[in-house]
Amino acid sequence: MPNTFLNNLDWRFATQKFDNNKKVSAKDLEKILNAIRLTPSSYGLQPYHIIVVTDQKLKNKIKKYAFLQSQVSDCSHLLIFCARTDIKKRINDYIDLVTNGEKLKKIKLQGFKLMTMTQVGKLKNQDALAWSAKQTYLALGFAMAAVTELKIDSCPMEGFLPKQVDKLLKLPTNLKSLVLLPIGYRAQGPERPKFRYPQNDLFSKKQ
Ligand SMILES: Cc1cc2nc3c(=O)[nH]c(=O)nc-3n(C[C@H](O)[C@H](O)[C@H](O)COP(=O)(O)O)c2cc1C
Repeated sequence: MPNTFLNNLDWRFATQKFDNNKKVSAKDLEKILNAIRLTPSSYGLQPYHIIVVTDQKLKNKIKKYAFLQSQVSDCSHLLIFCARTDIKKRINDYIDLVTNGEKLKKIKLQGFKLMTMTQVGKLKNQDALAWSAKQTYLALGFAMAAVTELKIDSCPMEGFLPKQVDKLLKLPTNLKSLVLLPIGYRAQGPERPKFRYPQNDLFSKKQ
């Protein structure tokens, strides 16, 4: 069976014990980062930033703020998904990059600017964070799909103290850590059998 995302859905699980001797190759990491880069986002603004940690000392420090969960220190790479809260700046940056700063092209994007500034550019603090967080979790989903296809293990993690991690990483105020994704190779299989709610709980059809 080819290593496709769909074929590997039963193989993957939230890996809690990583083999800390096995490392994700630079080539595979590039594929994972590319999947994150190509993730769709509302208005294409990609209001997030992902920090890739391999420094063992730093991983050990982060683990202390993650209730000592060993995934954080034993993984090959620790991806920290952060949401951006400066959406207005993000829109201006987007327009500058897409138009290469050319005036005529900027004029053509005036409608886009007005719409995005009105819809999301005005969001502040918790509202901005909530909107950016939704986009960030899509990127997390694409990352998990990519690693699954590459037969690399991962464990999405909200079990950490974001404020402490932000402080440790000296993040600028426009970035907030939301979710961790340690990636690497399993040291053992899942501790519990996979549980999912039944189809009729999750889906209903209107035909
Ligand atoms: C957003 C999110 C946060 C999670 N946080 C943690 C965590 O902090 N620690 C952990 O061991 N598992 C964490 N999990 C893993 C879930 O418990 C796991 O995905 C779920 O029980 C389904 O099991 P499976 O992924 O092995 O199929 C998290 C999963 C998601 C999607």
